[in-house]
Amino acid sequence: MSLPSQVKIVEVGPRDGLQNEKEVISAAVKIELCNRLSAAGVPNLEAASFVSPKWVPQMATSKEVMAGITRRPGTIYSALTPNMQGFDAALAAQADEMVIFGAASEAFSQRNINCSIAESITRFAEVARATKQHGLRLRGSISVALGCPYQGEVSPSAVADVVRRLADLGCDEIDIADTIGVGTPGRTKAALEAAAAVYPLAQLSGHYHDTYGQALANIYASLEVGVAIYHSSVAGLGGCPYAKGATGNVATEDVLYLLHGLGIKTGIDLDAVALTGDWISALTHRKSGSRVANALAAKRADQASS
Ligand code: HMG
Ligand code: MG
Repeated sequence: MSLPSQVKIVEVGPRDGLQNEKEVISAAVKIELCNRLSAAGVPNLEAASFVSPKWVPQMATSKEVMAGITRRPGTIYSALTPNMQGFDAALAAQADEMVIFGAASEAFSQRNINCSIAESITRFAEVARATKQHGLRLRGSISVALGCPYQGEVSPSAVADVVRRLADLGCDEIDIADTIGVGTPGRTKAALEAAAAVYPLAQLSGHYHDTYGQALANIYASLEVGVAIYHSSVAGLGGCPYAKGATGNVATEDVLYLLHGLGIKTGIDLDAVALTGDWISALTHRKSGSRVANALAAKRADQASS
């Protein structure tokens, strides 16, 4: 199969990227991060998460963030909504897309959202119904689809089973998430092919953390399967509070460099994202996790000194 000519990037830095930061990041910084990313042409931003602030304190400012961002016409602003309490808050905050997030292993479901997979589907059904009643987009996310920190191996059929259940709820998009970044291209393809057997390929997305440095290879493998939606995080920010040792999502800058190099269109300005990544990395006192952003910064410094 030839590679897709166009890819949709879902930038998850403001949510997945920042949720694990220990130091409190002000709503003003999160708002500026969202605004810079949408101005760079990002078509879909995961901007907020309406979960328990006791579980994920960094996301407690989600209401202010959603109220403060400048909505760029055409940009989709998504929010995590694990239950009706989250849905009501996200609706009030005018999120464009509700994200229900489950898991392909029972152990991770319990640790992350405090219920079994079956219980989560019952909770999500209510959220899904309400989302559709309001004419909003619904996305489903499946954690630990390529391996679980508690259970270990996760089979492609376990992934397909959750895909089927989320599809039945009317999800417009379903994410195959490698929460702990353990997947390799063969495993990634197997999970995607199992998912695509029960759900339209065009609505599947790859959400890969880069813990083992495999995320770009996994994206290339996913492109070969025909997947054309990818999640990434500016500067590779992030980690999951319920997956110890897991690093951030693959860096947006690195994904853009790969895709643009292959002639695949994203509509996103790589230089603008890289500058945004340098800015948020400085604010969070870390070196950017993007190899591409670091290379571009070195090039800029070299040009400035010559
Ligand atoms: P629970 O304790 O089972 O919920 O938590 P509960 O209904 O029994 O309520 C207990 C308390 O939580 C109550 O407060 C509720 O009001 C409050 P109290 O009376 O004790 O003061 N509460 C809420 N507060 C705000 N917003 C809400 C909400 N719901 C209940 N929506 C719950 C269940 C799901 C809420 C909890 O387990 C939770 O918040 N978990 C956090 C999960 C999370 O955010 N994980 C990280 C994001 S997922 C991720 O990163 C993976 C992803 O990137 C894909 C990948 O890489 O794998 C998407
Ligand atoms: Mg994630």
